[in-house]
Amino acid sequence: MDRPLIAHVGIAVNDLDRSIALYSVLTGDAHPCIEEIPERGLRLAMFGGDSPDSAARIELLGSTSADSTIGKYLAKHGEGLHHICIFVDDIDAKLAELMRQGFKLVDEIPRSGAGGSRIAFVHPSSTGGVLLELQERTTKQGS
Ligand code: CO
Repeated sequence: MDRPLIAHVGIAVNDLDRSIALYSVLTGDAHPCIEEIPERGLRLAMFGGDSPDSAARIELLGSTSADSTIGKYLAKHGEGLHHICIFVDDIDAKLAELMRQGFKLVDEIPRSGAGGSRIAFVHPSSTGGVLLELQERTTKQGS
């Protein structure tokens, strides 16, 4: 398999607008994709490409409410590396395979992630201590 494996790295930040300014300088991408997911109390900025299939991007995660998942994470751990996201071709098949093999999943059913992609999280206890996000590729190999 000679395709990029890492879709993005997610970083939790206290002040999204301030961090967007910092990462615009750091990455040289002055126009990140900014998206709000109100039902998850989440506002995010994606640097390094505007297609869901763009690889190796940086995702900044900011909280819009203190009782959101990311708000609680920030209160407990502070800013920092939050998750790594890898591409999978068929997320339903991958989740079924992981369940069969006893992996602990945060999401047993895919949900909607950044850019409308289908995603699911695997619990850090099954991945060597890293919250791992799976993201389904929208373009299949050979198609
Ligand atoms: Co992510």
